[in-house]
Amino acid sequence: MPLLEVQGLTMKFGSLAANKDVSFTVGEGQIVGLIGPNGSGKTTLFNCVSGMYRPTAGRVTFLGADITGQPMYKIARMGLTRTFQVVRPLSDMTVLENVMVGAYLHCSDSDRAMETAERCIELCFLEEWRDRPAGAMTIGNKKRLEVARALATQPKLILLDESVAGLTSTEVKEMVSVIVKLKEEGKTILMVEHIMEAIMPISDKVVVLSGGVKIAEGPPGEISRNEDVIRAYLGEKYSKRVAMANAETEART
Ligand SMILES: Nc1ncnc2c1ncn2[C@@H]1O[C@H](COP(=O)(O)OP(=O)(O)OP(=O)(O)O)[C@@H](O)[C@H]1O
Ligand SMILES: [Mg+2]
Repeated sequence: MPLLEVQGLTMKFGSLAANKDVSFTVGEGQIVGLIGPNGSGKTTLFNCVSGMYRPTAGRVTFLGADITGQPMYKIARMGLTRTFQVVRPLSDMTVLENVMVGAYLHCSDSDRAMETAERCIELCFLEEWRDRPAGAMTIGNKKRLEVARALATQPKLILLDESVAGLTSTEVKEMVSVIVKLKEEGKTILMVEHIMEAIMPISDKVVVLSGGVKIAEGPPGEISRNEDVIRAYLGEKYSKRVAMANAETEART
């Protein structure tokens, strides 16, 4: 049984269908990448899965239970949390306090919440920020704080919406290593990302949306070479880069 199953998901805003009959699964322990052009419906899909929107049609199943249209807090309590594309920490509060907010989902005891929060801070390489106000952080650190806050709710499945976007190349590497560490800890990850260098090497599977429709699904190597995906999103330049990298690998082996 997959951890998450999205079946025939459609989300309409008036006459605009931001998601049209989208189906895919996420297996336990996997990293699944969700890619596609701007406005292709990736964030909308996250909003439908995490309970922010009730989809117009279709079904979302998590841990074998139908969670379609359930409120966000209930879905979060079951173990499905998401981060937001636009980060918004509680700026005046310290990093520790921010992360503790997440931890309180499962406990009311402040010592235990602090313990959980400290573990998440460590996992996201934010120890030096523990007692400093979140508002003073760089965007790269804020993005990792967003992940730490989500992690503190002790999810089985984390939806990451563009956690790597807008970061420096060093910060991208830090974030990627956080995501890999989460997987090693047994978390399942569904991530939206535009930076292919970040998402392709670590994804077990990639789902591609274009105009709200799923146009492809498969292992990253296959998706990189898929002509529909290249036409709709990746572009010829990317495809040439991948072909060159493949040729180099072949020449070496
Ligand atoms: N609350 C809303 N009301 C009306 N239209 C919306 C709403 N949210 C999203 N849309 C529209 O739905 C479409 C999909 O938007 P969405 O934000 O899901 O795309 P996205 O793939 O996340 O894009 P990006 O890569 O730019 O973040 C867009 O045309 C957007 O304008
Ligand atoms: Mg988006």
